[in-house]
Amino acid sequence: MHRASSQNRLILGDNREVLSRLLKRDRGRFRLAYLDPPFNTGRRFDEYDDRASPETWTAQLADTLNALLPLVREDGAIAVEIDDTELGALVVLMDQLLGRAQRISVITIVRSAATGHKAINRGPVNVADYLLVYAKDRARFAPNALVVPREGLDPAYSTYVSDPSLKTPVFSPLAREVASRQGFASALAARRSLGPDAFLREVERFALGHSEHVVRFAQPRFEAIGKRAREVVLRSRAAPEKVMRLARPGYKDFIVRGGNRMLFLADKVRAIAGEPRVVEPLTNVWDDIGFQGIANEGGVRFVRNKKPERLLERVLELCTNQGDWVIDPFVGSGTTAAVAHKLGRRWVGIEREPTVFERAHERLERVVAGQDSTGISARVEWTGGGAFEAVGRSP
Ligand SMILES: C[S@@+](CC[C@H](N)C(=O)[O-])C[C@H]1O[C@@H](n2cnc3c(N)ncnc32)[C@H](O)[C@@H]1O
Repeated sequence: MHRASSQNRLILGDNREVLSRLLKRDRGRFRLAYLDPPFNTGRRFDEYDDRASPETWTAQLADTLNALLPLVREDGAIAVEIDDTELGALVVLMDQLLGRAQRISVITIVRSAATGHKAINRGPVNVADYLLVYAKDRARFAPNALVVPREGLDPAYSTYVSDPSLKTPVFSPLAREVASRQGFASALAARRSLGPDAFLREVERFALGHSEHVVRFAQPRFEAIGKRAREVVLRSRAAPEKVMRLARPGYKDFIVRGGNRMLFLADKVRAIAGEPRVVEPLTNVWDDIGFQGIANEGGVRFVRNKKPERLLERVLELCTNQGDWVIDPFVGSGTTAAVAHKLGRRWVGIEREPTVFERAHERLERVVAGQDSTGISARVEWTGGGAFEAVGRSP
């Protein structure tokens, strides 16, 4: 491999020209292309002009995407962030260019809350961006299974089982178990004495500490389970007190009681920042990423258009692994590159506006020097390292 081509690169220029130039040495290199193009808001920002006719906007983005696609790996993904101004046009465009079958997800990213907006508003307050995720080839795309911490306990986890091995299990209501361990005659008595909220916190704390004893029952969807599992469910209905178990190689045992599937809370507990937390799979609504307080991230000004490092961290963790290459053809203040660098991914970022490019450049120099303590630095214990090449910059 050409030595220079294995370097991280921050490139000044119009992405349509730059991407065509990259084709020679970077074809099929990138596991992820993340794009955060101008949203066509009709505004003139300090840094760039965001006013184009819908036709021009679409045609320009089509050029960028067409130049970009050959650079993406066959098992890679293209993720484009957008607000609702051009969302419709973008979905149509990407369906055309990549194929509707390659559309993996349309993720809603909650940017802000309604608080702070005038109570009397002409319509719904706009608080969301969208992230359109497409695979280059759906059959080869294997995103990482991410989980997010859940606030509170799913109330369906309401049963305590004395013996998690299920050899001689005794089942009882979880709330009653917690109450009796605290010396109350019943859950009702505990609730009255402690107050409903405090008792609920006690139940949640206990459940987290004894998650292998806490279960929920769920009605199996017959169409979604195999023949053997269906047979177990039918037998279980006929003997509702018995626990029945079907071992399935490569999967969790299918455990049934009273015709219902038993699910253990322990399977949903993970250590997050050293603490056990109940987690759930990532959904297509991301409302847990703060956009507030990011003005100083990276130590560069980029009012309104800078994206949170935490957001790029999630996108990169979803679609890439250590060592993978990531490209951002609208790199702006350099968020994608900074996050890729801190997460051990390799990267190329392209920016057209020289003043914006300079800010990204400063930001990445600080990242490399270990002088950037903002964004995800503390979470990933970033202390600096690595290098990048600045291309197209006047000396
Ligand atoms: C929404 S901002 C990106 C913000 C970035 N995600 C961040 O967190 O800082 C879009 C950027 O794309 C740049 N841009 C617009 N058209 C471009 C093009 N054809 N080639 C390269 N950069 C372009 C703009 O100058 C602007 O800095």
